[in-house]
Parts: sequence; structure tokens; C-alpha cells
Amino acid sequence: MAAPRIFVTRPIPDASLARLARALPHAQIDANPEDRNLARGELLVGARGADALLCTLADPIDADLLAALAPPLRIVSTFAVGYENVDLEAAKRLGVRVCHTPGVLTDATAEIAVALLLACARRVVEGDRILRAGGFTGWSPLAMRGRALYGKTCGIVGAGRIGLRVARTLRHGFDCEILVHSRTPRPEWGRELGASFAPLSELLERADFVSLHCPATPETHHLIDAAALSRMKPTACLVNTSRGSVIDEAALVTALEERRLAAAGLDVYEREPALAPGLARCENAVLLPHQGSATFEAREAMGRLAVDAIAAVLSGREPEHALV
Ligand code: GLV
Repeated sequence: MAAPRIFVTRPIPDASLARLARALPHAQIDANPEDRNLARGELLVGARGADALLCTLADPIDADLLAALAPPLRIVSTFAVGYENVDLEAAKRLGVRVCHTPGVLTDATAEIAVALLLACARRVVEGDRILRAGGFTGWSPLAMRGRALYGKTCGIVGAGRIGLRVARTLRHGFDCEILVHSRTPRPEWGRELGASFAPLSELLERADFVSLHCPATPETHHLIDAAALSRMKPTACLVNTSRGSVIDEAALVTALEERRLAAAGLDVYEREPALAPGLARCENAVLLPHQGSATFEAREAMGRLAVDAIAAVLSGREPEHALV
């Protein structure tokens, strides 16, 4: 039997590639050496003839691409927990397994959400900018006042692993009252955190801080649109570490410009890596380059899950964390 070929669309931690080579010593592993997204044509050429494709959330793995690659393609392993970039239906039809990396980036992403909540509340990035520009002229009773996070009402939209980790941190670390909105009722949130479930409109109206933790689906597309933003308190902060499509970014820019919202902390964008016009000029926005899972620990663990799934499928075993 010919040696299987694996195509990796972007550099991943060395330890992950080494693990893959150890698990499949006869496989040919072709990894794109450049740390940039491949254009569709490059992706097609690179992945043609591959038995396994290790991709990222930035690679659109749609029905046409899958049809061009399968067979021999047998598995798409995405180095991410979110998988909206992969057409699962098409993969299923073509007999291609799809796996992702849930669980191992929960803490890292929750940390970034809390970092953004604090950065927005206490104007951390703005303070740094002002100081470097020579604007620190000495301590002042009036300067740089922000809003306390301690004891505030925090709305969590999406009650998955990451939302729960953020809610726990806010409840146990910051004495916050937790409101939660999700598709699935989770009574354990009430028991552990005293959290109350609320319709989205009520959560937006009552919360001082709102943190988004829902996946990108047709139902969550622009969940936070102009109407939703207009329900929020003008003193509130909105944080998004989930997916950019959950917020209507143009409407958010208008709300930030008109100070109808105190601040927003974003790690994800509707058209990554592009930002909505005007967003980068909003002083009251803290903007990060999609780094929620970017800890050494999380990225190594994601790499481990991503390569283990490939090793399992190419060895005829059932992979962990299979979506189809
Ligand atoms: C990151 O956004 C991921 O989905 O892993």
C-alpha cells in the first residue's frame, strides 16, 4: 500500500508534527512552511492526492474543495474548536471524517475574555496609549476613571465550556451576578453560580458586561445587531471571543462612535483579518488579533488532538472528537 500523504496548511507546533511522524512513520507529511493563509488554488494544489488534511479555522473547506479532494481524502482535522469553515454535510456525503479540538482551549479563551472585560472596564489599553504618547502628567483624581468589574451584573451568551469558565471566574473571582442566555437550559449554572437564565433582550438590558460565547451558526449570525445594541446600557461593555459573525460589526462601530456603548473588547471579526470601517479608530474598543487560544499550552494540546485524529483515521481506528 502506498504511504499515506498528509497536507498541513500552516505551520503548527514542532511537537505536533513530531508526534504525527512518530505515530505514522511511513507517512509523507507536507506542511506549508509559510505562516500565512493559503489561497484557494494553493490549498487545492497542496492537498491534492492527500489522505489527510490538517487545516485551520481560516481555511474554507467547502463542498467543492472536498469533492475535488475525496477520494483519496479521508480526514479533515481542523486545528480549532470552531468548525463553521468546514462543510460537514458534504464531508459526510463523501465519506470524509472531520475532527476538531474541543476542551483544550477552554481556559486560554476564557482568560482572554476576562482580560478583555478588565481591559474595557479599566481602560487598560487606552491608558498605555496615553502614557506612551506623553499624556501622563502626574496622578489625577479625575483622570482615567473606568468602571469596576467587581460585583457587577455580567451576561454570558452561550452556555458551553468557555462561557462556563468565564462565568465561574466572574462569579468566584469578582463576585459578579451572572445572567445567562443559551439554547440549552443548564440547571447546574443556577446551582453552582446562582446564575439566572434570561431571554437575550432582558440580559442585554440588565447586564453591565456582556460576553459572547456562542458558535457561528445561521441562528447566531448578527445576534447582536443594531436593535440588540440599542437595548444595552450606555455604560455597558461588550466582549466577543467567539466568532465575528455573531455581531453586526458596522452597527457596533456606530454604537461605539456615538458612545451608546461604553466599550467593546473584540478578539474576532466578521471578515477576518479585515476590520469594519471605522473600528480601528474607536478609542473605546480593545482589539486583539484572534488570540483566544494562543497560549503555548493550549496550542500544543490542540496540535496533539489534531494529529491524533489523523493518526487514528489513517490507522483504521475511531478518532476522538469526530464531528462526522
Ligand atoms: C478558535 O477560535 C477556535 O475555534 O479554535
